[in-house]
Amino acid sequence: MTKNLLKKKPLNKDILVKLDKNEIEEIISKYPSNRKSSAVLPLLHLVQKKAGGWLPVHEMERVANILEMSYMRVFEIASFYTMFNIQPVGKYLLQVCKTTPCWLRGADNIQKCIKDNLDLDNGKTSKDGIFTLMEVECLGACVNAPILQINDDYYEDLDYKSTKDLLDKLKKNIKTPKGSKLGRKSSEPLGYKGN
Ligand code: FES
Repeated sequence: MTKNLLKKKPLNKDILVKLDKNEIEEIISKYPSNRKSSAVLPLLHLVQKKAGGWLPVHEMERVANILEMSYMRVFEIASFYTMFNIQPVGKYLLQVCKTTPCWLRGADNIQKCIKDNLDLDNGKTSKDGIFTLMEVECLGACVNAPILQINDDYYEDLDYKSTKDLLDKLKKNIKTPKGSKLGRKSSEPLGYKGN
């Protein structure tokens, strides 16, 4: 079994996503030539973006081939970091932060709103494949808690009502500005009028 996972397999080019050769080379060129495998995180990130938000096995095998690593090493990395998905996800990946500052500021209301409106539990994808819900740990934006990350964007200072508004718009494919839903710029104090 382990032997098979370490062995390089021929790739089926028909099922691979299109990657720009220059983009790959540019990523690899940022690292010493004898440390090609250091490029594994940005390369996985690029592939995941092109593959619809997750990393099928054949794409991880391709990254392994490009970086001359074993597939198992790439798989270990992809399955360790929560920013990589090794299962398919919906068009919109909803990541609710459940760490203490967000929890104290109402993360449960965001999750309740998602449950009420999309009938989604943690780790599940809606039947139409549009939404996936994931509970995550601190997203590093505690000053504007509670936070909901949708794909690459952060939606901040949310409550039940603003989350519902956000979901309703996503259902209609309407883009909503990211950032604070209380109108704060960055993490300025609420109500700040400037000097
Ligand atoms: S606790 Fe939610 S962003 Fe830090």
